[in-house]
Amino acid sequence: MRLGWLVGVVLGALLVLGHAQPVSYDGYQVWRITVDKPSQIAEIESLVHDVWMIRGRTVDVCLSPEEQERLRAAGYKGEVLISDLGALIRQQQTEFVPQENGLFTRYLTLDEIYTAMRQLANQYPELVQLLVIGRSVENRPIYALRLTRYPRRARVYPTRPQVVINALQHAREWISPPVALYFAYRLVSEYYTNVRVRDYLDNLEVYLVPVVNPDGYVFTHTTNRLWRKNRRYLGTFSGRQAYGVDLNRNWGYQWGGAGSSGNPFSETYRGSAPFSEPETYFLSRWLLSLPALRAHVDLHSYSQLILLPWGFTADAPPFYSVFERVGLAMQQQILGVHGQLYRVGSAAAILYVASGNMMDWVFGVRGALSITYELRDTGQYGFLLPPDQILPTCEEVYPALLELLRWARQRDWRE
Ligand code: ARG
Ligand code: ZN
Repeated sequence: MRLGWLVGVVLGALLVLGHAQPVSYDGYQVWRITVDKPSQIAEIESLVHDVWMIRGRTVDVCLSPEEQERLRAAGYKGEVLISDLGALIRQQQTEFVPQENGLFTRYLTLDEIYTAMRQLANQYPELVQLLVIGRSVENRPIYALRLTRYPRRARVYPTRPQVVINALQHAREWISPPVALYFAYRLVSEYYTNVRVRDYLDNLEVYLVPVVNPDGYVFTHTTNRLWRKNRRYLGTFSGRQAYGVDLNRNWGYQWGGAGSSGNPFSETYRGSAPFSEPETYFLSRWLLSLPALRAHVDLHSYSQLILLPWGFTADAPPFYSVFERVGLAMQQQILGVHGQLYRVGSAAAILYVASGNMMDWVFGVRGALSITYELRDTGQYGFLLPPDQILPTCEEVYPALLELLRWARQRDWRE
């Protein structure tokens, strides 16, 4: 009895200590390296744990002091994008203290995002409904907002084409949930004054899923700001515990191919099987339940790109010209708001090959127009985008996403 109590206290203390210890990035830097030969990208990937971005012959890497040494020894030099990652993360954590009530002036916690979603649904019951579409590994709900006129009169309107916009498969890409949330707020607030928005919500169903990976998102707030994957415990290998599946490599279309890893410690670990993770499993089941899914955007950061299928191969997909036309219209809309350029092209061609991703599944299996965005910035801050850029990013993406609704409303695959 007494011993049990003691063991309990000791275990509890270990648990708290083990959990509360945030990961430090002191001494870490982010470099941008431009290589002469494409094969050198693979060499860099083998020397470095956390590759932030690859674009053509340019790669951004997050480096511990040892990795910086290792790259220098291998003859690589880089432009320093972030010279003191630990300090930048700390600076943004102190800024994180709520200054103001504005939903888009700082990064919200998961609870705050979910509260905002609930409030929107309560405030506009004739336009918005809150749905639980699944649960995470740690049993957190995954919420969707359903925007359509009189959502409570039908579970799904079979005559209204569905459009889905989701964010945050990758936990550290903090700019993506506010963009999805802002889209919902703008649509709802413009419904009674803007005939175009009214037409969309009267005739379409728009679904927003701001946080696909809630466990990962919480973990980026409590423990490791740069966590990417979900929080699945995978096992202990040579005394090291492995956690996390890359949700955007876990989808069941061309799963297991190039650009994904079978190593549980890798940042692009694909999982043990297609849809092995509850987050992708529930999301895919739910997408299959939508009778007229027409269009989809998956929000990521960073690099300012509008990425079109395919992701698993650089070959052109069917209807590429339709994708390109919509992508270029989106690009123009974004450019018109704050003058930011987002490049348009096939994901595998302008970024890198990644199999088992969501966009490929939504297009390949559901036949919907599916596009991946990489939001701001182009690398100055990367995943650590300062909070004063949240609102401008939301504002510029809003009219681009309206283009998706326009396409869903009036066009089909015939040009
Ligand atoms: N940053 C995203 C990821 O790594 C983009 C994936 C887009 N597809 C691609 N093949 N590049 O999951
Ligand atoms: Zn991502």
